[in-house]
Amino acid sequence: MKVNTTRLHYLLFFLPYLLFSTHFSVDGFIEEEIKRADFPHGFFFGAATSAYQIEGAFLEDGKSPNNWDVFCLTQGSIENGDNGDICDDHYHRYLEDIEIMHSLGVNAYRFSISWSRILPSMQFFLSILAVNFPVSVCHAVIDHLNKRSFLTVFNVGIEPFVTIHHHDFPQELEDRYGSWLSPLMQYAQFPFLQNLCAITCYCREDFVHFAEVCFRSFGDRVKYWMTINEPNLFAEFAYERGIYPPARCSEPFGNCSVGNSDVEPLIAMHNMLLAHGKAAKLYRQQFQAIIWSLNIYGIITPKQGGFIGIVAHTMMYEPLTEFDQEAASRALAFNTAWTLDPLIFGNYPPEMRRYHGSELPQFSSEEAKIIKGSIDFIGVNHYSTLYAKDCMHCSCILGGDRSIRGFVYSTGERDGVPIGEATGMPRFFVVPRGIGEIIDYIQKRYHNKPIFVTENGYASLEQQQAQVQDLLHDVKRIEFHKSYLASLAQAVRNGANVRGYFIWTLMDDFEWVHGYGIRFGLYHVDPQTLNRIPKLSARWYKNFLTNSSLNTKENVYVSEV
Ligand code: NOJ
Repeated sequence: MKVNTTRLHYLLFFLPYLLFSTHFSVDGFIEEEIKRADFPHGFFFGAATSAYQIEGAFLEDGKSPNNWDVFCLTQGSIENGDNGDICDDHYHRYLEDIEIMHSLGVNAYRFSISWSRILPSMQFFLSILAVNFPVSVCHAVIDHLNKRSFLTVFNVGIEPFVTIHHHDFPQELEDRYGSWLSPLMQYAQFPFLQNLCAITCYCREDFVHFAEVCFRSFGDRVKYWMTINEPNLFAEFAYERGIYPPARCSEPFGNCSVGNSDVEPLIAMHNMLLAHGKAAKLYRQQFQAIIWSLNIYGIITPKQGGFIGIVAHTMMYEPLTEFDQEAASRALAFNTAWTLDPLIFGNYPPEMRRYHGSELPQFSSEEAKIIKGSIDFIGVNHYSTLYAKDCMHCSCILGGDRSIRGFVYSTGERDGVPIGEATGMPRFFVVPRGIGEIIDYIQKRYHNKPIFVTENGYASLEQQQAQVQDLLHDVKRIEFHKSYLASLAQAVRNGANVRGYFIWTLMDDFEWVHGYGIRFGLYHVDPQTLNRIPKLSARWYKNFLTNSSLNTKENVYVSEV
């Protein structure tokens, strides 16, 4: 299938851009253009997406409704009343999308698996009474996924990086036990039924089981697994600010009918971290090591030898004033280290333990053993930097004076001056140094563990009555990536163990509560035809990826992480 490229567009926009764009730094010096060859041999360059944000096909092949399907039905929850029913229709157009990536020249693709497609419903026991119960529904989806992404991505030499859970889960888990507020979401044991369940995919619906189905079905080809995307952001948005489903919160963080913003984010996060730890343990015991063994059904299976990690939302923080140094480091601990400390050291950051009371859950010694050291690599989603202001000694608004915020108020402005150029996304500013700074923070705190920048992207500023040509002419996105990559390359030169970089995102998609109004894509998606049209940034990325003296197809890191 051919990617829809127009020569005219190329001549009009891209060629002049390449020829005449000058590369001045803020200081006025001409900067060296960032090149792929500035990164080590074998570095992964890719694009990232997530299932709910692109797939559509919302009830196809036995998929059950998920938390977002249901949330989108609530009036006022999503801008313009948008939803993910059709989205970019990636579920059907996957071949075209893989072809697009292939033509871009990426050597990696990060995507997620839809939980509610794999484990459609717990109604097994009810349905089994019915005639013609479709016991293999989940297997049909697995077949589809095999054809759709895994095999095809694999066949064209693009390394799949798979996120098991990216914000979407079966609604049934919310209705039955309150999803991430319940430990049942981690691992629900029904011992006498376990083998039957593993075969049918129906009896267990918890995260570890979902992960196990993924490892078993795709792990022979997938070598990079990420258990959960941004658990820290999800805990904050769903249980503190109440803007993601299940929309729970309390004053002053938001105006929800139920919830407790001071406590519930901590509980949800605790369950997500333990769910990660248990899935990682299972992966390591049953799938990771490269040996042959008998599985529980007495079948000899090759072990898989991949790597497992998690993806943290990592905002960088700088002190608002000279008195806010401590507040900035607290903000980092309450954001990034909240996710990573437990998985590396087996406990919450000391900063959190110091400022939280009994509301901070504790890991039992057994649990600490499970989570400690449970990641092979760190996934870093980084977009922006904010100022941090101390709220322990000064009064603050909007919950900055609460322990859940680490007694920090964060803002994008100092004396009315933004920290960086504004983007289309509230609180995302263009601050290229931030990516170098956050990498530096992570590598020092976690002793240079391998890092993948699993997301970095630019949301176009909303233009009134923008024509398609305006949307395609996304010079600011190119400048964003060039400057962030330059900062990242510097961090790598300084010794940071960064192994890959994924642009968020391949094509404009469903940006959660903002619907389709916020655009991060390298490709524009025509709302009527759903045709994918390359933006200038797609052409730039292709040029960046292919004009290299290094052939990075060979993935030397595969055996090294
Ligand atoms: C991170 C999330 O993983 C992704 O789903 C989202 O679209 C981007 N940030 C942009 O907000």
